[in-house]
Amino acid sequence: MSQVLLVNGPNLNLLGSREPGLYGSQTLAGIEAGLQAEAAGLGHQLACYQSNHEGELVDRIQQAARDGVAAIIINAGAYTHTSVALRDALLAVGIPYWEVHISNVYAREAFRHHSHLSEKAAGVIVGCGPIGYRLALLALHDRLCPPG
Ligand code: DQA
Repeated sequence: MSQVLLVNGPNLNLLGSREPGLYGSQTLAGIEAGLQAEAAGLGHQLACYQSNHEGELVDRIQQAARDGVAAIIINAGAYTHTSVALRDALLAVGIPYWEVHISNVYAREAFRHHSHLSEKAAGVIVGCGPIGYRLALLALHDRLCPPG
């Protein structure tokens, strides 16, 4: 069984009520519960973390290394576009990570087109809605437990 960490950044605690036309009507708690069940079915243990604070996100990523986490799914929200510190934390721990964005950031404002995380991500899933988290889980499962 591998440990997997789901990290959500600022304002993603508001999923369900936040701009539902862009982000859908599912709450973060609902997404987390569904993903935990799906991870368990694949033989993984999923821990979930959300914070609106950059330093707390950095601390949690550092903690993941001490916990022996094998893979990270991260939607860093707006910090995707601004945070060198989050990129540094992910590179420092050396844990493969999959970057998720619920909305299609490339169809939105220009400042959302650049991600500090994508270049080093194991995979990037954009614009698929909340199902993107599940796609990331399947992708990391395929990496951790290659078929055949
Ligand atoms: C987001 C896209 C970001 O640009 C935005 O700041 C978010 C959510 C997404 O999931 O589509 O908070 O990461």
